[in-house]
Amino acid sequence: MNLLVTGGCGFIGSNLVRMVLAERPGWRVVNLDKLTYAGNPENLADQAANPRYRFVHGDVADGPLVGELLRQERIEAVLHLAAESHVDRSILSAAVFIETNVRGTQVLLEAARETGVGRFVHVSTDEVYGSLGPEGLFTEETPLDPSSPYSASKAGSDLLALAYGRTFGVPVVVTRCSNNYGPYQFPEKLIPLMIANALRDLPLPVYGDGLNVRDWIHVEDHCRGLLAALERGRAGEVYNFGAASERRNLDIVRQVLERLGKPESLIRFVTDRPGHDRRYAIDAAKARRELSWAPAHRFEEALAETVRWYVAHRPWWERILSGASRDYYDRQYGGR
Ligand code: NAD
Ligand code: TYD
Repeated sequence: MNLLVTGGCGFIGSNLVRMVLAERPGWRVVNLDKLTYAGNPENLADQAANPRYRFVHGDVADGPLVGELLRQERIEAVLHLAAESHVDRSILSAAVFIETNVRGTQVLLEAARETGVGRFVHVSTDEVYGSLGPEGLFTEETPLDPSSPYSASKAGSDLLALAYGRTFGVPVVVTRCSNNYGPYQFPEKLIPLMIANALRDLPLPVYGDGLNVRDWIHVEDHCRGLLAALERGRAGEVYNFGAASERRNLDIVRQVLERLGKPESLIRFVTDRPGHDRRYAIDAAKARRELSWAPAHRFEEALAETVRWYVAHRPWWERILSGASRDYYDRQYGGR
């Protein structure tokens, strides 16, 4: 199998590429990544010499490049992860989210259509469903009601993927997963940001009252779900992934501090994120039933393991935080 992974130098993509190369010995993986601020080839440095792996530096929105790559590599399946992925950045500057997430997805779908790719997995998020109140779960039938430019751009790309299925017969599967955590997550997202700040005795910025709820899943469980969707998903279908691990932000921040032996006085309540979704929670029954998929990690243990990973890989995140991301951090948190 010749597989194209887009965004393979990011958090989920790098975990996925490593898993595929280890667990699917007959597969060849081509990784197309633009290396934005979030893309880090170091995440896959251990695979650089693998003869079944090729990295291509490029933009998913570059039509001629993508078309040529699919033909030249005889790509049979696509796992499309490349995206601008951070809500707060989409609030500061939305245009690139439309360019990559909406237009980039359309360009890739068009190339998949022209070359007759056998399977196209579009990797999306539960954020397209908007916010839940205190009760209930997102199912695949929940209406799309995105709150941020990020989630709106993902909703747009989901609909394009499904439309390319219906109109042109591209065999698309859309997956919608809840919040991921684990190794190689860019330290702008809640869990790695809090770990990195706590380790440096910097304030931990908690938005609003800290009682927003996210439904956490370990990145390996998500990656296994993506492989299941690729291999067993039905064309034209949507599958939710989640691990039934709803936690309040503040409880997570407290757990991180406790694991690191740092005081709760580091917590700073800061101005809330505009349009901040209150609660996400996933019903993953369809994926469990149809894809024979189930998450394997338990949250508290896997969070402890994740904290240990960031402690052990301090040079990895320190290099990131000392570079261009410094400007973003000052813009996002400077005044608070
Ligand atoms: P990430 O920001 O860590 O990585 C994104 C990767 O895409 C980077 O390597 C970046 O260089 C690359 N990229 C960005 N624009 C590109 C372009 N125009 N062309 C080619 N490559 C480009 O993101 P992530 O957290 O790994 O998320 C991956 C995917 O999974 C995204 O589509 C995201 O919406 C989705 N998702 C993420 C989560 C989560 O909790 N992180 C949950 C559900 C779904
Ligand atoms: P995030 O990791 O950005 O994921 P998403 O917004 O896609 O769910 O944020 C997770 C939760 O943590 C969300 O409710 C916002 C909150 N949060 C903070 O309180 N402080 C922060 O500095 C960040 C980045 C997030």
